[in-house]
Amino acid sequence: MGDQYEVSEAGAGALAIPSLRWEEPPEGPVLVLLDQTRLPAEEVELVCTDVPALVQAIRTLAVRGAPLLGIAGAYGVALAAARGFDVDEATEALPQARPTAVNLGYGVRRAAGAYRAALAGGTDAPAAALAEARAVHAEDIEASRGMAQHGLALLGELLPGGGHRILTHCNTGALVSGGEGTALAVALAAHRAGELRRLWVDETRPLLQGARLTAYEAARAGMAYTVLSDGAAGSLFAGGEVDAVLIGADRIAADGSVANKVGSYPLAVLARYHHVPFVVVAPTSTVDLATEEGADIEVEQRPGQEVTEFSLPSAQGPGTAASGAIPVAPLGAQAYNPAFDVTPPELVTAIVTEAGVVSPVTREALAGVCSTSRWR
Ligand code: MRU
Repeated sequence: MGDQYEVSEAGAGALAIPSLRWEEPPEGPVLVLLDQTRLPAEEVELVCTDVPALVQAIRTLAVRGAPLLGIAGAYGVALAAARGFDVDEATEALPQARPTAVNLGYGVRRAAGAYRAALAGGTDAPAAALAEARAVHAEDIEASRGMAQHGLALLGELLPGGGHRILTHCNTGALVSGGEGTALAVALAAHRAGELRRLWVDETRPLLQGARLTAYEAARAGMAYTVLSDGAAGSLFAGGEVDAVLIGADRIAADGSVANKVGSYPLAVLARYHHVPFVVVAPTSTVDLATEEGADIEVEQRPGQEVTEFSLPSAQGPGTAASGAIPVAPLGAQAYNPAFDVTPPELVTAIVTEAGVVSPVTREALAGVCSTSRWR
């Protein structure tokens, strides 16, 4: 770890680096994170010994992406329990670190529920929280496999003949998951089946999760990929170069509205105009049936500096010396910087989950697929 990253033949095919792991050194349990703010230049780990450190890692996007946030949140509760910190405080603080990705609260609730049940039953509560965190982690690995299978089959139906040219946005691969991810896991399955002609990777302004992270994963997997600036997607569609859009989700409301990285909604509009399928890939743990519709989803607003300064994200926070910020707007310029946008269900061709595919996207069909999930 720590060396400059280069794509090597030996490394091609899979992401060998886990994005997160639990360790128990003699000094006490820790949660070790791959610091995603440093990718692709460096593979550096962050060691969290307490919940505030994990909250900071979540806020600064050192650990990010809906499914991984769920896993990290669950381990965060386990960490608090194992180290004798206040578990109630941890259970409150962790979901507030980022409000949109529903998986974060889901993971926290699962581990906290197990902890409290063990406490009430007089059994080892820290061990119960850790076991539940491990279960959330293991389920996500399995969910990734299910989504890849269902997604590959759906691509076969939507695009008979193979040779897919897939456009994706943000980062949805192994870096956001215990397994191979969501949308990128489907693209990877198509690649392995010899059916992926090209992966178009939106750079994903302002924090460049596409250029920095998806391209990093695609290179490791030996996929044929091309990075484009977000604004270039329109001409790509107009030129007939996109067969399908595959994205992930941070929260899916009961009506099928999809909150995902800002810039997803414009792609859905483009896809509809150009008659291209727009497919969302997410585990059922990302579906929030308690949120009635898209307008009810809280969209995280991030610091304006991420837009007015050109910088890479930093685990120390935006605008710090470590982020190497270069101003790209006049001093004091106001910025609009929502982290996510919401795509209405009528623009979504299908939602692929580990429990099956929802298409057409209706409230009833979504609830039906969720009811068949083993983990809800
Ligand atoms: O702000 P980020 O980097 O956490 O945003 C992540 C995304 O928007 C992903 O597309 C989403 O979490 C789905 S990942 C499976």
